Amino acid sequence: MHTSTVGIIGGGTMGAGIAQVAAMHGWMVELRDVDEPTARHAIDGIIQRLDRLLEKGRLSAEVHDDAVSRLCVATCPDCLSECELVIEAIVERLDVKAAAFREVLPSLRPDAILATNTSSLSVTKLGEAIGQPQRVVGMHFFNPAPLMKLVEVVAGDASDPLVIDRVAEIAHQWGKEVARATDAPGFIVNHVARPYYLEAFRLLEEGFAGVAEIDKAMREVGGFRMGPCELADLIGMDINTAAARSVWEQLGQPPLLTPNTLQESIVARGHLGRKTKLGCYDYSTDPPAPAIEVQHRVLELSDEQRELVNRFAQHGAVVPGSELQNYVFARIVVCIFAQATAALRRGVAQRQDIDTAMRFGVNYPRGPFEWMRAVGPDLCNAMLAFLARSSDPERYAVEPLTGVAS
Ligand SMILES: NC(=O)c1ccc[n+]([C@@H]2O[C@H](COP(=O)([O-])OP(=O)(O)OC[C@H]3O[C@@H](n4cnc5c(N)ncnc54)[C@H](O)[C@@H]3O)[C@@H](O)[C@H]2O)c1
Repeated sequence: MHTSTVGIIGGGTMGAGIAQVAAMHGWMVELRDVDEPTARHAIDGIIQRLDRLLEKGRLSAEVHDDAVSRLCVATCPDCLSECELVIEAIVERLDVKAAAFREVLPSLRPDAILATNTSSLSVTKLGEAIGQPQRVVGMHFFNPAPLMKLVEVVAGDASDPLVIDRVAEIAHQWGKEVARATDAPGFIVNHVARPYYLEAFRLLEEGFAGVAEIDKAMREVGGFRMGPCELADLIGMDINTAAARSVWEQLGQPPLLTPNTLQESIVARGHLGRKTKLGCYDYSTDPPAPAIEVQHRVLELSDEQRELVNRFAQHGAVVPGSELQNYVFARIVVCIFAQATAALRRGVAQRQDIDTAMRFGVNYPRGPFEWMRAVGPDLCNAMLAFLARSSDPERYAVEPLTGVAS
């Protein structure tokens, strides 16, 4: 049987994870890093992970041994000459990524596909910088690549549709769920997920709930695996705020995605989350203690507003909670629905792809469109109108969700 070969440039967190996935699914891997010892070190790390999977009985000896035998260090560009696909996972700089591809290009098959694992750079611009835009595609894995199910397959403006189809087919063969996206800032996941964090910080600013209350509501009422505050701490508050600002600026500063001054002031103080042991929570205690003080305000809802919030939760929540929990949940998810709708209208991706991306890229319990249908567009629009009246007319003045939710 003919064995396909993938070249991977960069053996860091993502490159090594992708190499492991490919080798476990029957592909030969040629891994290239800045020098031979660094690439060797990356492969040793993958082999250690495969060994652990074998010890735990999660991998058969046959798959383990085959995968290990397929991992090679690419000591020179010519080592990539057999590759059908080359994926780069190096530093997030367009010039460095383009140079890495240009260096190996003369050694590659003329039909080899050039894929980038970038999270934030333009696939179109990278294609132009390499001078071969039709061969370039985004293949955006999530961390840790062996565990996270999603790959966003991103079409640059000039990418060949056959190249896109082939990359989607390969990702499926590697056991991944595929969401196809256009070359929009943040693609799908990093774009549609923004309100999860931003709306939580907005709630903290308005004083209706503290970090622990928000996280608990989103876990228990919403069915999310982690609340937005604990997740921002895990990701790194600096990474989270940088992504928020970058997507907001690239999308033309939509009010719904305005970066949060409270969150940015916490980052400015050097409180970056788990890695500095202080962020939304203080990790010097066990369990971690909430570290953001809120000017507490009691949520006072009219009968009509209470009915709206509770009905929203009845239709959309895993288990409806207290009035405040339902409010927190409804407020955060309706903003995700609004952002998913904006992404659809901008042509970032189809509904089905947006749902797949959010379910498998960030483990949302449901895709936003499927979820919006369960709640019903009327309730969603009523919730947004309520937020526009009670909090900020401009921020929530999004286009009505009716019509795209069905
Ligand atoms: N870490 C994540 O959570 C994540 C998730 C999705 C996408 N990404 C993207 O994946 C890419 C890599 O991220 P990472 O976290 O794996 O980085 P990393 O720092 O862990 O690894 C980068 C690797 O690339 C190597 N490298 C740098 N320049 C090189 C060159 N010119 N030629 C060959 N090798 C080179 C480095 O030696 C290092 O081993 C970035 O574009 C990032 O935006 C990261």
